[in-house]
Amino acid sequence: MNTILLLFGGKSSEYEVSLSSATGAYQNIDRRKYNVLLCGITKDEGRFWLYEDDPQKIADGTWTDGRKFPLSVDLSNGTLSVDRDGTIEHIRPDAVLPMIHGKFCEDGTLQGLFAVAGIPVVGCDCQASAVCMDKAVTKAIVIAETGVRTARGIVVKCVGEACPDEARIKEARREAEAAFGYPMFVKPARAGSSVGVNKVKKPEEFARALKLAFAEDSKVLVEEAINGREIEVAVLEEGGVYTVAHPAEIDCGSSEFYDYETKYISDASSFYIPARIPEAAQEEVRGCAEAIFRALDCRGLARVDFFYTRDGGEIVFNEINTLPGFTPISMYPKMMINDGIAYGALLDRLIGSAIAK
Ligand SMILES: Nc1ncnc2c1ncn2[C@@H]1O[C@H](COP(=O)(O)OP(=O)(O)O)[C@@H](O)[C@H]1O
Ligand SMILES: [Mg+2]
Repeated sequence: MNTILLLFGGKSSEYEVSLSSATGAYQNIDRRKYNVLLCGITKDEGRFWLYEDDPQKIADGTWTDGRKFPLSVDLSNGTLSVDRDGTIEHIRPDAVLPMIHGKFCEDGTLQGLFAVAGIPVVGCDCQASAVCMDKAVTKAIVIAETGVRTARGIVVKCVGEACPDEARIKEARREAEAAFGYPMFVKPARAGSSVGVNKVKKPEEFARALKLAFAEDSKVLVEEAINGREIEVAVLEEGGVYTVAHPAEIDCGSSEFYDYETKYISDASSFYIPARIPEAAQEEVRGCAEAIFRALDCRGLARVDFFYTRDGGEIVFNEINTLPGFTPISMYPKMMINDGIAYGALLDRLIGSAIAK
């Protein structure tokens, strides 16, 4: 029987989503086949705990009051140390299942930590995770290595205290106006959940949007707004064999775009699997998703997001998520379920290919 360390929580804005993803995974993982250890990471301090209390307390966040012991990674021999009230116990998981999202979870930092310790992690390695976390780097590779269209855009970097100053804001605005004009999207390069993302329709709105994006990251993308349907594609990789699901579509309803409120709070949005685009376009977008997944050297899983333009029916790559939401009703598992791969089987295949790495 293999021992799996299931990670949940995390010091990121997607902490709550992770609690749902991890609960779904715990409930559906084959526990006759896997010995599942739970590791909770607190939101405020990012502390790692081996959690040995009721798994039902994960979903609502009350796990932090439960029975748990400090966990640390030994930086060499594939073991983790558990401090049981002063007695150190070593555990040696066969793989880590990171049901966590966003910063310090999905951006390669954690993948690097476990790589140093010699413990396989489900999904992308340190480098591919870091590349995919950065929307500017991702786009550069997609442009260089695939023929897939991306939104025209500029990258604005800002380091230092008085940043961005008025001169820098004006310069960025002029550059974006000359390159593509309004409406534009302004967004942090390395964030998620639409935090810091804003649509800019006129010059007066630019400075505020740029400052909001810089509040999240020191690197910001300003892009032409693409008027299209939002299309997502789930890709599963096992030992160099790729399974690409039929695409899903998100309809944001009355919302201007797929912002935080629409993603997690309001029920304005609706989902369609398969996406309401012609069959030929579905095949094309699946091909684009696989090409992008390969170009970025992804492993295990990723959800590749696109637009399908309203006039012209063109496919435009938007971004990739290497640890997409993984609750049983999240888009990634739903696309796979639609193609006949049950949620539990999906977990089994992901874990199996991580152990085989
Ligand atoms: N260039 C763009 N054109 C049109 N809509 C965009 C563009 N960039 C972002 N959006 C909208 O903002 C949402 C969030 O942006 P996205 O790049 O996916 O970042 P996140 O990582 O936060 O999901 C998208 O789902 C889409 O609705
Ligand atoms: Mg997105």
